This record gives sequence, C-alpha cells and structure tokens, in this order.
Amino acid sequence: MNAANLAMREDFPILKRSANGHPLVYLDNAATTQKPQQVIDTLADYYARYNANVHRAVHALADEATQAFEGAREKVRAFIGAAHTQEIIFTRGTTEGINLVAASLTSRIGANDEILITELEHHSNIVPWQMLCERSGATLKACHVTSTGELDIDDFHEKLSRRTKLVAFGHVSNALGTVNPVDELIHAAHKHDAWVLIDGAQAVQHVPVDVQALDCDFYAFSGHKMFGPTGIGVLYGRLELLDALPPWQGGGEMIEHVTIERTTYNQLPYRFEAGTPNIAGAIGLGAAIDYLNGLPRPELLADEQALVALTISRLKQLPGVRLIGDPAERLSVVSFLIDDCHPHDIGTLLDQQGVAVRTGHHCAMPLMQRLEIPGTIRASFSLYNSGQDVERLVAGVEKAIDFV
Ligand SMILES: Cc1ncc(COP(=O)(O)O)c(C=O)c1O
Repeated sequence: MNAANLAMREDFPILKRSANGHPLVYLDNAATTQKPQQVIDTLADYYARYNANVHRAVHALADEATQAFEGAREKVRAFIGAAHTQEIIFTRGTTEGINLVAASLTSRIGANDEILITELEHHSNIVPWQMLCERSGATLKACHVTSTGELDIDDFHEKLSRRTKLVAFGHVSNALGTVNPVDELIHAAHKHDAWVLIDGAQAVQHVPVDVQALDCDFYAFSGHKMFGPTGIGVLYGRLELLDALPPWQGGGEMIEHVTIERTTYNQLPYRFEAGTPNIAGAIGLGAAIDYLNGLPRPELLADEQALVALTISRLKQLPGVRLIGDPAERLSVVSFLIDDCHPHDIGTLLDQQGVAVRTGHHCAMPLMQRLEIPGTIRASFSLYNSGQDVERLVAGVEKAIDFV
C-alpha cells in the first residue's frame, strides 16, 4: 500500500469497522462506494445550517441552499467537461437518467425505428428501451458479446443501420469490468445519424470523462458510485437535443406558466427536474467531486489497476477458480466462479470472514444468459483498496474452496 492510498483510507470512517468479527474488506464498490468524511460532513452541514427548499423563496436560507445546489451543478459541469450548466440535469441516479431520455424520446421514435444496445448492459440500460419500444412499436436490437466479455464489434457495425435512432451502451461493464471502445462506437453511431447515450455508472469514479471530447449526446451516472450520496445522479444531454425534447414528469419547478387549460414549460435544466430535488444529495455530490479533484487520480487509478491485475493472477493459481471474462481493457472488476459452487455460497463464506463481495447476476441477466452461467462472484475495487484486501480475498476464497 503506498502513502497516497494509506492516507485516503483515513478519509473513509466506515473502513475502520469490522464485519462478522473481522476487519472489513470492502470489495463491492461497483454496487456503491463508501463515503469520505468530507461528504458526510457536507450533508450534515446542509441539514444543520441551511436546510431550505431551492429556487422558490426569498429568505436567506433558501438563498444559501440555492447557491450551494446550483454550485454543485457547476461542479458537475466542470467535472465532466460539459459546455453549459443547462446540460446538467439532476436525477435520482443512472436509472432515472436513462428512463428520462427513453420517456422524452417517445414522440421522436416511430414503428420503423430501431434502438441498438448491447448484451453487456445493466438492466437499467435495457428495460427503459424495451418499454420505449412497446410504446412506439420500434425494434430493440442488441450487439453480441464475445466469450471474453467484449463487444463483437463486427456485429455492432452490422446491426447499425439507417433505421437506428439511438445507440445506448455502458462505458464500463459492471459485471465484467470491460471498457468499451466508446470513441469508435460513438463515431459509428453518428455516421448513421443515431443519438448516443452512454451509461457511465461504472466509469466516472475511475477515469476522467469529458463529454465534449467524447461527443456523446447523453451521459448518465450515479452519485453513490463516486463517493457521493445515494438518491442523486446526473444526466448530461447536449443542449440543442435537450432543448428539443419534451419534459417527462410534470409538477412544480418544471413550469413557466400554468392555467387549468395548459402549461408552458421552464427553461433547461429545470424543465426536466419536476418537484423538490434531492438538494442535500446534489450538494453532497458536489463535495464528492471536490474530494476527487483533490486526489492524485492517475496515480490512484494505476494502483487500482495493479490490484485488479494482482487479484487475477492470484485467483488463477487457485484450483477450481474460473475467471469470467478476459477483456483486453478492464477497470475495477474481477468476476469469477468456483467449480460446482453456487456464487451465493461463496459470497456468504467470504462475508463470514469480513470480505464483502457481490454475487449473482449483477442486474445483467442477458449477459449471464449469453455466457451460460447463473451469475458470478464479483470483487470490485476502488481507490481506497489495498494489496492487503486482495490477500484477504484470496485467503477467503481458499478457505471457501476447502470448506465446500
Ligand atoms: C453499469 C450500470 N448502469 C446502471 C446502474 C444503475 O445505477 P443506479 O441504481 O444508481 O441507478 C448500475 C448500478 O449498478 C450500473 O452498474
């Protein structure tokens, strides 16, 4: 463990606790990351000092809350390199961002159109498109995945056609850690005049993201997977596109003028933020971004990648362990199975040793069907994990193998 990594662990109070009588090893970061004290304090400070609803009142507390809330939007804009704060819509998370786009696009999608996704997707990047296709009569297609857990690029190009209205794919797979060739996919989609939505849930906490350099149309992610609070997320949308789309939910905040007969809508981004937003969550997400911006991110990412490589090489040496997926480019995730053992049993045995991993289909059932497996045991890493964590995982797996 290097100095930067050691210092970072101190920032996360939960890493000091134990689980089932052992010091906690937290390797379920793809599900949610832990929170630094800075984020926890920011949330408490909001509720203790300036809790008020945003935008609508003239009093001092509301002004402070609004400034912090809109300040967080600006932090998000800068963090992902968007050109305008109006392009940053606060959501509940990645899932809500994708549902927002799918709902808003309803009037723009017809029975002759196609939506192209991939077999690697999380359910939240599958089901909203199925629902859109049910509403519109459009066809949903999915690019195949190879046995190494990578996209079959030839199949992607084959499935892309003049009918394709939207292409949606993950930046990084939550089940296997596969990093998709986003530049190539975006370029190909745009050549066919299709819009591109990227599910960035597993990317933003690991790698710098610049939505303008990527040239994507939409980019969705969740605060809780990047050291921020739960219940807050972001949908980035290109300004001209968002401007042309109808709102998806009606209520307060998203309106300009309401009569019983009709409503005119507010400007961006408020048009897509009906009702009281997650104010504390947005401010907490801003604190998480401040925290990330203060870290030596390239160095920490290199350490994290070294841990992933170490985990793979150590697990490969154990009898009966089968690694699932072997993508050329991978981030954070190592998925594996143990011969004749159900993943849940191994997960439970690891938990008894204080090692938290995730087991199951990881909300990616079509991928599990494609790979013909019931699920996997998934260890997912973050900036605060250490070589010791890898050793505890490997020792735990060895013990589990002996036990079953
Ligand atoms: C790749 C991916 N997409 C989407 C989601 C959904 O995120 P949320 O539940 O925060 O909306 C997840 C969560 O695990 C994910 O890993």
